[in-house]
Amino acid sequence: MLLLLQTLVLLLALIISQEHESIAQYVPPYTTMVSPVHKHTDAATPLYSVQIDTLWEITRITHTNFLIDIDAPFIWHDCIPQWNKHPLTCPMFRLCVSPVSCEQSQCTKVRNSYSYKNRSCPPETNTSRLPGSGSCSCPINVMNPFTKSCSQALLNYDNLIVSTTNGRNPFSAFVVSTLNAACAPSSSFKLFPANVTGVMALSSSPYAFQTFFNQAAKRILALCLPSSNNSSAPGALFYGDGPYYFLPHSNFDITRFLSYTPLLKHPDSFGYFIGINAIVIKGRSIEIPMNATTRLSTTKAYTTLRTDIYTRVVKRFSKVTKRIPLAKPVAPFSLCFRTLITNGTRVGLKVPDIGFSLQDGKTWTVSTANSIKQVKKHVACLAFVDGGATSDEDAIVIGTFQFEDNLVVFDLENLRFGFSSSLLRRQTSCANFNFTNINTNRSLGY
Ligand SMILES: *[C@@H]1O[C@H](CO)[C@@H](O)[C@H](O)[C@H]1NC(C)=O
Ligand SMILES: *[C@@H]1O[C@H](CO)[C@@H](O)[C@H](O)[C@H]1NC(C)=O
Ligand SMILES: *[C@@H]1O[C@H](CO)[C@@H](O)[C@H](O)[C@H]1NC(C)=O
Ligand SMILES: *[C@@H]1O[C@H](CO)[C@@H](O)[C@H](O)[C@H]1NC(C)=O
Ligand SMILES: *[C@@H]1O[C@H](CO)[C@@H](O)[C@H](O)[C@H]1NC(C)=O
Ligand SMILES: *[C@@H]1O[C@H](CO)[C@@H](O)[C@H](O)[C@H]1NC(C)=O
Ligand SMILES: *[C@@H]1O[C@H](CO)[C@@H](O)[C@H](O)[C@H]1NC(C)=O
Ligand SMILES: *[C@@H]1O[C@H](CO)[C@@H](O)[C@H](O)[C@H]1NC(C)=O
Ligand SMILES: *[C@@H]1O[C@H](CO)[C@@H](O)[C@H](O)[C@H]1NC(C)=O
Repeated sequence: MLLLLQTLVLLLALIISQEHESIAQYVPPYTTMVSPVHKHTDAATPLYSVQIDTLWEITRITHTNFLIDIDAPFIWHDCIPQWNKHPLTCPMFRLCVSPVSCEQSQCTKVRNSYSYKNRSCPPETNTSRLPGSGSCSCPINVMNPFTKSCSQALLNYDNLIVSTTNGRNPFSAFVVSTLNAACAPSSSFKLFPANVTGVMALSSSPYAFQTFFNQAAKRILALCLPSSNNSSAPGALFYGDGPYYFLPHSNFDITRFLSYTPLLKHPDSFGYFIGINAIVIKGRSIEIPMNATTRLSTTKAYTTLRTDIYTRVVKRFSKVTKRIPLAKPVAPFSLCFRTLITNGTRVGLKVPDIGFSLQDGKTWTVSTANSIKQVKKHVACLAFVDGGATSDEDAIVIGTFQFEDNLVVFDLENLRFGFSSSLLRRQTSCANFNFTNINTNRSLGY
């Protein structure tokens, strides 16, 4: 069965590769794509990946998990650049792709404007030569988001495959062709979860993934992070303006749950920022200083608040939860509660919502599932972290625990950020997208 699927995929890839350009422009009949999103709990903190198929010269298809990174300037993954593109020269179980030459304009462009910048990184020179061609390749620096260590990758031409969708199910494969990514050595992925061998740039950089879809999909990313690491029940990442449906609401487009706030730009960053005026807990507002920036992050697990803000939030939250017995704090949290187990079933903590009151009067509601983390059998903590007193970093960084089972939208067409607040209150979750492929001609086995 697997072999049959692979054969069908190869056949499809063959058809697509013969008509690369025209297929990349025209996506009958849908203009939104979708990929599964997995939660990984085997690294120091929970991390999330998007599953993309990688394709090399029509002969090999591999599922690859890319770390979801909304700050990364470009895509990079564990692959081998080769000038000589004969399939048999690629080592078994490795992915081989074509390098970009140092003479091509995108090499200089990526190096000058869209590369990772850090004084500790080695210089990006033209000296790298690969066997099989006299031309130099294009080394660019990549920085591991966890160790912060730099390594040198080579810019390449990649083909990545996602599925088109009608919003309810995946349909046919769509090859995002000849995009620029970089091949990094396997050693660049230290502290990554097992099975995650790449970084998917979903930032506002011109080399982020969504910019390579051309007219096929609008530059709108809709991310729904799952709360469970069950790989049979993944979350979803949509590229394009929807609709998006989550079971059991098969006739209700979830974009109708969205509220929007402007996406703010910050110099020297491809990341996403929003304006938070106040954090509201049970009617009381904790004002946020005007110049405090709020960044969104997909690699930080918990929302981090600068000490002056953190102290006030924790103080207010302890006050409104004073009936709940406290537990000894479990790092990195400072406010933890004892949770009762009655006859084997956990009684959920009842705590007030936390509201992020935004620049334009909208409120992103953080309900218990996104504010309280069960850290041990009998202990649950307020899942916010003290970010220290320094003012050179962002005052607020919203982390992934607060995104789980929320649909969040990075709309680069209209420079706005959309949020649904908890889907659990709408009787659905991020794990409820139906990934059964409905293309009757061929099943891609997603
Ligand atoms: C690399 O080579 C290209 C083409 O010869 C040239 O335009 C570019 O300036 C060189 N870059 C560096 C860093 O030497
Ligand atoms: C730059 O590199 C150093 C050394 O590896 C690291 O400690 C620092 O965090 C990096 N800076 C940024 C902004 O990532
Ligand atoms: C890695 O992937 C393999 C094959 O898909 C799977 O069996 C294994 O459980 C995964 N490991 C982790 C830690 O997710
Ligand atoms: C999923 O998480 C559970 C605990 O929540 C853990 O026991 C299990 O090993 C995890 N599975 C994988 C594949 O990481
Ligand atoms: C994982 O998800 C599948 C599909 O929703 C479900 O059938 C299965 O019971 C789940 N496994 C666990 C351990 O929760
Ligand atoms: C923010 O504003 C306060 C008071 O207006 C000022 O003391 C502080 O230096 C400012 N911080 C930054 C990072 O601009
Ligand atoms: C716990 O279970 C026992 C027997 O099933 C029942 O008699 C008792 O009322 C339950 N206690 C609570 C608090 O639900
Ligand atoms: C998922 O979609 C397939 C194809 O449309 C459908 O047959 C199946 O019933 C759907 N699953 C659920 C749980 O609705
Ligand atoms: C299935 O393939 C046929 C022939 O290639 C094509 O005409 C038809 O539109 C395809 N159907 C779907 C649903 O893609």
